[in-house]
Amino acid sequence: MNISQSQNNTSVLTFRTDFWWLAPLSSVLAIVAFVIYSTWAAFQGGHFEYQNYHSPFSWPIHPKWWPFSPAFLTIWAPLGFRATCYYVRRVYYRSFFRDPIACAVRESRKSYSGETDVPFIFQNLHRFFLYTTLIELAVLWLDAIHGFIFSGRFGFGIGSLVLLMNSTLLSLYTFSCHAFRHLVGGNLDCFSQCPKRSFLWKKISILNERHGLYMWISLGWVGFSDLYVRMLSMGIWKDIRFF
Ligand code: FES
Repeated sequence: MNISQSQNNTSVLTFRTDFWWLAPLSSVLAIVAFVIYSTWAAFQGGHFEYQNYHSPFSWPIHPKWWPFSPAFLTIWAPLGFRATCYYVRRVYYRSFFRDPIACAVRESRKSYSGETDVPFIFQNLHRFFLYTTLIELAVLWLDAIHGFIFSGRFGFGIGSLVLLMNSTLLSLYTFSCHAFRHLVGGNLDCFSQCPKRSFLWKKISILNERHGLYMWISLGWVGFSDLYVRMLSMGIWKDIRFF
């Protein structure tokens, strides 16, 4: 196609003939499904515990003075962490704002101001959400360990494995974070002067390559973990105890 033809076709969305719309569409469906479920669970405000299992959607300690759902004590940290995640930003800029929706597909916006407008300026808070998420991750690991203790004795059931998997996947997502990678290896002029940080940075860089994958799997699994504990608490599902 020559330049004059291309100028005549500025109203065409794209010349791509492959299934380029599949990725943004699936992202929209997955994110909307998670947001609907997690919002409903947070406002519903109950069924976050079953015996020694605790849902990742709520803080294990529920202060008496707190009048709202316990989920609101904790949900803001992972919500802020995910909403400002570099990978998730790419996903929702493409799939929700069509900015651009895919490579070689016409953009919907007329002007560009980057991330300098409200509310996008708050994307800079990502590293601070990382710090709060690290604290919550430690609590989730305590919950996962607690899931193996039945009446003071070690044991395990399906729920123990569900919570263990949840903490593992959330750890992979958190420790593969770009901001965490920078925290470990950033602001260094010379890696050879800091071999331990260099070593850690290289390991985190390997995790970082799969950051998007960990984001999606951990998102799905954290929702499933809450659903599992909720179904047990409501008496709809029965947990299988191995010993
Ligand atoms: Fe995705 Fe930090 S870049 S969690």
